[in-house]
Amino acid sequence: LWQNVPLAPADSIFKLTTAYKEDTFEKKVNLGVGAYRDDDNKPWILPVVKEATRILLSDETLDHEYLPITGLPEFTAGAAKLILGLNSPALAENRVASVQTISGTGANHLGALFLTKFYQWGTNEKKVYLSNPTWANHHAIFKNVGIEPVEYPYYDPKTIGLDFSGFIGALNAAPERSVFLLHGCAHNPTGVDPTPEQWAAIADVMVAKKHYAFLDCAYQGFASGDLDKDAWAVRFFVEKGVAMLVCQSFAKNAGLYGERVGALHIVSPDKETSIKVKSQLSVLSRSEISNPPTHGARIVSMILNNPSMFEAWKRDIQTMAGRIIDMRKEVFRLLTEELHTPGNWDHIVNQIGMFSFTGITPAQSQALTNEAHIYLTTNGRISMAGLNSKNVAYFCKSLDAVVRN
Ligand code: LMR
Repeated sequence: LWQNVPLAPADSIFKLTTAYKEDTFEKKVNLGVGAYRDDDNKPWILPVVKEATRILLSDETLDHEYLPITGLPEFTAGAAKLILGLNSPALAENRVASVQTISGTGANHLGALFLTKFYQWGTNEKKVYLSNPTWANHHAIFKNVGIEPVEYPYYDPKTIGLDFSGFIGALNAAPERSVFLLHGCAHNPTGVDPTPEQWAAIADVMVAKKHYAFLDCAYQGFASGDLDKDAWAVRFFVEKGVAMLVCQSFAKNAGLYGERVGALHIVSPDKETSIKVKSQLSVLSRSEISNPPTHGARIVSMILNNPSMFEAWKRDIQTMAGRIIDMRKEVFRLLTEELHTPGNWDHIVNQIGMFSFTGITPAQSQALTNEAHIYLTTNGRISMAGLNSKNVAYFCKSLDAVVRN
């Protein structure tokens, strides 16, 4: 038995963490996984999360009972307001079904699974349009539930920016009621987002062609440091009446990676439909995870529902986003002013969020790993959070060397 099981390749992102940990070279740098590090290269427990944890641990009324299948109600309600906005028409009209999920990945999975059961496909049955490129796991998540990924143009290597006409062209060319996965903010891996005007044009085509927006928003707060600003596109889509769902993660913006705190929000045309949608999400969740985990949801719920903790959280997010922006500026300065590295590096400061898509080739990326012990995905994506005041000069010198070779 099982002899015929083929050996699967290691995960393209997490294999970098393993390789980095095994590497004994003193100056090694991990720019692989999108996980925040402080200036000492240490994981950062947000002060507000520490405070919430302290309160939770001293609360003797809390137990380890099951949560409702759809999650902690105060958490899902707070999470919905965070992404859709306090004045969301969809929330006011009670037409959002919100379910707690195993972080953003679980939200993507549950949303994809729900589509396989209930989406009224056009001629593009069980296909999802993913940006080229996208987070590698998107491909796996959709394939896993029998939805075939097809790509739409997104990144233009010539400009190291958005291929907007290619993107709009694909939206127009796709058959009606196609499903498009869109990154709500801080596109992973490119760090290239549409401008508000471009989002407006995208929304117009989505509505005209009755496409479905599968919005993944794993980095709210990381694009600009401002939670509301980063939710702008999602809220705009609701206003414009685009048919949509949103996947939400608190891994990055609350630093709760391993706690797996997330939510799926499906926006329906009316309250009655939304009740039915939620009932089916509950059935699907029950067969997969039964009940979501409590600890992380309690932490986030406390932060979302306590005004002074919410303010403290916003400051913590600014600390993280601010450090990343400082690193972008420093990389840009070192490459352009000190090293005079060949090429244009404007994109380093123009791209947003946790990642920068450097524009280097797979061979150059491999050379950084082999020669300088710098770990990054072969597509040239670097997690800016892996850079700090101690290693940024080493990184830039090494990048300069591979670019010149
Ligand atoms: C990443 O892209 O590095 C993160 O989203 C972590 C992950 O799950 O891949």
